[in-house]
Amino acid sequence: MTLMETGPETAQFADLGRIVVIIPTYNERENVELITHRVRAALPEVDVLIADDNSPDGTGALADRLAARDPQVHVMHRLGKEGLGAAYLAGFQWALENGYDVVVEMDADGSHKPEQLHRLLAALRNADLVLGSRWVDGGSVVNWPRSREFLSRGGSFYTRMALGVPIRDVTGGYRAFRSTTLRSIDLHSVGSAGYVFQVDLANRALKSGLRVVEVPITFEERELGDSKMDNRIVREALWRVTVWGVDERVERMRRWRESRRRRRGSGW
Ligand code: GDD
Ligand code: MN
Repeated sequence: MTLMETGPETAQFADLGRIVVIIPTYNERENVELITHRVRAALPEVDVLIADDNSPDGTGALADRLAARDPQVHVMHRLGKEGLGAAYLAGFQWALENGYDVVVEMDADGSHKPEQLHRLLAALRNADLVLGSRWVDGGSVVNWPRSREFLSRGGSFYTRMALGVPIRDVTGGYRAFRSTTLRSIDLHSVGSAGYVFQVDLANRALKSGLRVVEVPITFEERELGDSKMDNRIVREALWRVTVWGVDERVERMRRWRESRRRRRGSGW
């Protein structure tokens, strides 16, 4: 059976509209083909956009070959490594311009299982943003070093405290957005370059009063290639979350003072 024959009749999520999975890549030559095939096999109605930052290992050229064979696979070639956040922002822009209704974020290295994508999409029926979560019941991490688990749990905890967001896994990168969610977030003002971009977007969605839901995922550490996580990414996350947290407290204080002044003024 060809993909054409399994077309729209078998689409499980036709009610959600057109769906695209954005896969950012930097030196993912060993992973890009397999992940693309797994996405296409898991849900044939879903399109793929590979957002490559001109990877020196030739990931971009390989992605072009995949796109040439499958009209549902697209490639965005960016000029150089500008960070995960910048690659996603460009991908979002492309998805909105091309009329997609749902935009999914997924890593290239197999840590986010395409076979669990249906969980995120099913939850999106009653949400504006769905977060694949390692730290809720049923979620898990396989093959991560202790140090990495500590960093992730610690990062989520610190963020929860600093920003007051009721989310267990706020740094994760397996997510599904409605396009209306992306449009209501002012994407032009997002300055986060690295992985803290994920915190930024979840926080913006929550602060705009959108429905944000977590669903459990199994995050499995990559077998091929290397993580791009480094100290600079951690430092950016720490200072940005701290600044947002302070800003928020100052703002809350300002609002409280104002309401007190108003109460006094009106003779209370
Ligand atoms: N285009 C582009 N540009 N892609 C990038 C860049 C970049 O500068 N940096 C990383 N990527 C891509 C990788 O190629 C991969 O597909 C994905 O982003 C995730 O990168 P990894 O380096 O594998 O991330 P990780 O496994 O260490 O981190 C995971 O956990 C983080 C913390 O929870 C990811 O899921 C992150 O999204 C998450 O924030
Ligand atoms: Mn990874």
